[in-house]
Amino acid sequence: MERRSFLKSLASAGFTTLLPTGSIGALLASCASANPSEEFDFEKLIDRSGTWSVKYGRATNGEIPMWIADMDFATDPFVKAALSARLDRDVLGYTSTPPEFYDAVAGWLKNYHGYQVDREWVGYAPGVIAGINQAYLTFTNPGDKIIVQPPVYDQFKLYAERLGRVVVDNPMILRDGKYYMDFDGLEQLFDNQTKILVLCNPSNPCGIHWERETLVRLAEICERHGVIVFSDEIHADLTLYGVQHVPFCSVSDAAARIGLMFGSPTKSFNIAGLSGTAYCMIPNKELRERYLATLENSKLDEPPIPSLVGTIAAYRDDTRWLDTLKRYIEGNIQRALDFFSENQMGMKAFEPHTSFLLWIDCRALGLSQDQLMARFKDGAKVILSNGASYGQGGEGFVRMNLGYPTSVLEEAFARIKREFAYNYLTYFCKYLLIVNGHSAFSYK
Ligand SMILES: Cc1ncc(COP(=O)(O)O)c(C=O)c1O
Repeated sequence: MERRSFLKSLASAGFTTLLPTGSIGALLASCASANPSEEFDFEKLIDRSGTWSVKYGRATNGEIPMWIADMDFATDPFVKAALSARLDRDVLGYTSTPPEFYDAVAGWLKNYHGYQVDREWVGYAPGVIAGINQAYLTFTNPGDKIIVQPPVYDQFKLYAERLGRVVVDNPMILRDGKYYMDFDGLEQLFDNQTKILVLCNPSNPCGIHWERETLVRLAEICERHGVIVFSDEIHADLTLYGVQHVPFCSVSDAAARIGLMFGSPTKSFNIAGLSGTAYCMIPNKELRERYLATLENSKLDEPPIPSLVGTIAAYRDDTRWLDTLKRYIEGNIQRALDFFSENQMGMKAFEPHTSFLLWIDCRALGLSQDQLMARFKDGAKVILSNGASYGQGGEGFVRMNLGYPTSVLEEAFARIKREFAYNYLTYFCKYLLIVNGHSAFSYK
C-alpha cells in the first residue's frame, strides 16, 4: 500500500483526528529524515515491570529471562502511534474488518515477500495457534493423524492432542550441523487417518530457512497422499542476511491447492501482547470457505481493534524499522556465535537464518535435561527454553532468545561463562585424572 493511501485510511478510520494535528504524518516525516540507526534505539534498556510480562513472570530470582519469543525492544513507533491514536477515540464499539486489513496483508506478501496473492485469499486468524486450532477442528475429527517434524514449535502438538487428534512425528535429520526434512521417513507415515502436516516455515526453534526445492517436494508428497499442509510463517518477516523468505503456498500449484498459510506481525514488530493479531492466506477456495465458516461459527471472526490496527500499521510500505531491527539481530547473532565458539564450554550454537532465537546443542556436557535447565536457571541465572519441549531430537538442546540490547546479552554471556566454562574445565581435569589412574574428585 502506498504510504499516502495508508495515511488516508488511518485518517478515515479516525486515527489522526484526535492526535495533535498531523502527528502521524510528522512522525513519518521525522523517520524519513533521520538516520535509522539513531532513530530506532535498540540499545535502550526498557523496564517491563508491572506490564504482566509472561517472560519476566518466571524470573523471580534475578534471572535474565531469555525464553519465550518476544523481544525487549520498543516496537515500531509508527505502530505505537497508530494504536494510541485509535485507543484515544472515545468510543471503542463493535468494529468491522475493513478492506484495509486485507489490502495490508496482501500488499505485504507482495512487497516484502514477493508473493502476489489475491486479496480474497486473505482471511483473519485469531492468533496463529488459535487459527491453526480452528483449522484442526475444520479438517480433522478426533482420532485423525497430524504429522509434525520435530524439533519444532511445541504448541502444534500440544493443542492437536488436547483436541483428541493423534500426532505423528517425522523427526528432522541432523547431519553435519544442518537439518533436513526426512522425506523417506515421511513416505512411510501416511495412512487413511492422516489428514494434515504442520510445517514451521521458517523453523522455530532451529532457525531454518526452507529452500524452495524442499517445499516443492513436500507439497508433491503431501498432495499425493491427500494430506493438506498448515504452514506457520509467523517468523517469516524476520528472515535474515537478505535471504528471501519462501511462502509455502507460492512454490507450486500443488502447494497452492493444499496449503493454508498462517502469519502475523507479532514476532517481527514485537506486538505479541496485542493478541489475535494474525491472518490466514488460503488460495484454495473450498479450504478457505470451510476454515472461515468454522471461525464464524465459533464467533472468532471479529478481530479486536488493537489487532486490526496493529496489522494494518505494521504492514505498511515503510520497512525501515524492521530492516534496522534485522541488522541489529544479525549483530547479536554474530556476537553469540563468537561467544559460543570462543569459549569451549561443550556447547555448539546453530546459526539461525531467521528470527532472534538461537538453538544450542549442549549434548557434549553429558547432563540430563533437568540438570541442564537447572544449571542455566539456578547456576547461571539465565532462563532459556527447554529443547526437549520441542519434541524428538530436542533433548540436550536449549533455545536462547537474542532479542535484547547487546549489554543484556553480554551480561547473560558473562553469567553463562562463569557457570559453565569453569565447570567444563573441571570436568575435563576430572577426565584427565581418571584416565591417569587418579581417583575422581566430586564434580558439581
Ligand atoms: C512458530 C510459532 N508459531 C506460533 C507462535 C505463537 O503465535 P500466536 O501467539 O499468534 O498464537 C509462536 C510463538 O513463539 C511461534 O514461534
